[in-house]
Parts: sequence; C-alpha cells; structure tokens
Amino acid sequence: MDANSKTNEDVVPRQPSGFEFFTRKHYFPPTWASHLNPIPSHVFSLGHLPTPIHKWNLPNLPNNTEVWLKRDDLSGMQLSGNKVRKLEFLMADAVAQGSDCVITIGGIQSNHCRATAVAAKYLNLDCYVILRTSKALVDQDPGLTGNLLVERLVGAHIDLISKEEYAKIGSENLTNTLREKLLNEGRRPYVIPVGGSNSLGTWGYIEAIREVEQQLQTSTGDKKFDDIVVACGSGGTIAGLSLGSWLSTLKAKVHAFSVCDDPDYFHNFVQGLLDGLEAGVDSRDIVNIQNAKGLGYAINTSEEIKFVSEIATATGVVLDPVYSGKATYGMMKDMAENPKKWEGRRVLFIHTGGLLGLFDKVEQMASFVGNWRRMDVHDDVPRKDGTGKMF
Ligand SMILES: Cc1ncc(COP(=O)(O)O)c(C=O)c1O
Repeated sequence: MDANSKTNEDVVPRQPSGFEFFTRKHYFPPTWASHLNPIPSHVFSLGHLPTPIHKWNLPNLPNNTEVWLKRDDLSGMQLSGNKVRKLEFLMADAVAQGSDCVITIGGIQSNHCRATAVAAKYLNLDCYVILRTSKALVDQDPGLTGNLLVERLVGAHIDLISKEEYAKIGSENLTNTLREKLLNEGRRPYVIPVGGSNSLGTWGYIEAIREVEQQLQTSTGDKKFDDIVVACGSGGTIAGLSLGSWLSTLKAKVHAFSVCDDPDYFHNFVQGLLDGLEAGVDSRDIVNIQNAKGLGYAINTSEEIKFVSEIATATGVVLDPVYSGKATYGMMKDMAENPKKWEGRRVLFIHTGGLLGLFDKVEQMASFVGNWRRMDVHDDVPRKDGTGKMF
C-alpha cells in the first residue's frame, strides 16, 4: 500500500515489545509531516528507542536556565549515536531496492561509517567504507582504534583515501567510482552519502521530534522545551530536528553548533534537504547555526579537552570531543557571553554519541583524567575472603 494514502489512524507508535528490533515496517509519518514528499514507505527498527531524557546539571548556567539531555548516545552500542536514526530509513530503502551491499564514506574515525557497517551486517549486507586519512597514513594498516575496531570486527571492507585526494575528487565521485567497480563485479550496491545526510535520512530526526513530543505528552508535570541544541557535522540531524520542531507542537528554537563547515554552507545544504522534501520552508527561518569548529574538524584545543573532562567529572556525562563536546563548549560559551538570551529557558541538548571516537584522543586527554594511587596496605592486614576465589 502507498504510504501516502495512510491516515493518521494508521499511525502506530513504537511498541516497546523488544521483538521489533531488526524488523522492517511500513512507515507512517506524524500528521504534521504528512504533506512532505516523498514519504518513506518503510523503516527498520535498529535503534534502542526512545532514548531517555533527563535533567543535566551543568555548572554555571544563567539564571533559571534548565538544560535537559536527550541521550541519543544510548541508542545502542555498536550502532550508537545519531546515525542510527537515519540508517533506519536508509537501510529500509537499500533492502527495498534489492541491494546486496552498501557503500559509504567519511573520516578515519567516522561514527557514521561504523554505524553503517554494523547496521549492514545486522541486515546481512556487505559494507564498503571509504575512509579519509592523512597522506602519511594512507598506505598503512589503519589500526584498531575506536570506530575502526568495531568496523573491522564486523568485516567492513575499508578503502583508505588521502585528505588531498578526497578534496580533489569529492565524496560523491569517490563513492560512485566504488559503486561502478562493484557493479562490474556483479554486486548490487546502495550508496549512502556522507553522514547519511540526504532527504531520506532527514526522516530520522523528524521522527526523533515525534519521539520527544510523545515523551513530553506522557511525562508528569507540564514540560516543554524552548530550545534544542545539537552539534552539526554533515547537516542531516539539524535538517530533521529543525523541520520537525517547526512543524510539530514542539516549536522549540533549534541551535546548531557546526564542527566543520561554516553556517552559510550548512544553511544552503539544509535548504537542499528541505527542498528535497518539498517542505516549503527557508532553513534560515528554522535553525540558527553557529560556528564551533575551533581549530578544525576533529582537532581539539587543550581547553576543549579539559572542558569535556570537567563536564564528565561534574555530571557523569561523557561527551565526545569531536561533536557534542564542541557543541556543549559552544553553548556554554554563548551562555556565558549572552546570559540574557538563555535566562529562564528550558533547553534540550541532544547528545549525538560518538564515544568510540574518544579512544582516538586518549593521549590528549591523559593529563585531565582522574588521579590514581597505589593502595596503601600493611603486611599485617589479615586475609578474609570475599566472594569468589580468583587468587
Ligand atoms: C557523534 C556525532 N554527532 C553529531 C554528528 C553530526 O550529525 P550530522 O552529520 O547529521 O550533522 C555526527 C556526524 O557527523 C556524529 O558522528
């Protein structure tokens, strides 16, 4: 049946039976998004959703500002983070097209490539990832740090490319080159763009807004959010969040902190995604984008790394330094510089995951982590067994 012909009565909220995981279902959009076009016909259940929302007791907030945290970092382990929401739609399309493998592309520690590799294997598809690295490392074994360990464990085929080649050829031509090669070998590849950010992937965060709406409706007390804050890396997450928030009952202002390109680039890119859904809105009206790139994509100052460790120590929440770490740093800086803008507001920060990328930063983190010491015991402390007998 054509998904467009469904009515709101057909909308089935996510059933937390546990047996839904890995299943492909017909997709029915929220009523407020039913005018968008095209509407995906199917969706896979791949994430551990809904993700929890809890109050985040950040230090030094402006007067009466509350920050709440949506834990998309808890959307699964190997599939963790924001990418799984996009993959629920992209993988459903890959399967509908009869593909036998997927191709995608990103940086050497790409969370998206790792999540895609895992999702593909869950669905019995092969995965080919093109990973961008430095010229000095492109001819070497990429190692097993962070995302690479998971990617390689699940058997993804890795093609390394240098940053210079990537910049010269572009991600689209690189994935197409690999696609042609695989087609010639008789394979049926499905190409997923950088970060899973296309109009189809945008549905992932349109759905996340429906999820937040439902969480607010079922929570006790009169809760609402004035602002949503999130990191922006390839643009798909903010496209879905800002469109969803604009169309739904949420109407929260979306603030994006860009960790790579500048705000103008992202406004134009997001506009393309919105136009691809015939949304009829201007990206500049629905999302505010600020630069939080700092030294550059995936490069951190010591101050940012120290900030990540201070937030972990103060709140127990571990941020990844590449995305949510920079976004939180940017948000807190803005709150310190413009407290009036944030006073009295209830903010929902979306933690988009990326914790595996943290392993790539251990050296830089080393001087900021908690202390240790050799336990001081005297020779005359008598032995008394606890549980188990390991020694
Ligand atoms: C952990 C994490 N957070 C945030 C983002 C940004 O999301 P998007 O690419 O949709 O802008 C990415 C990917 O780029 C990511 O891996």
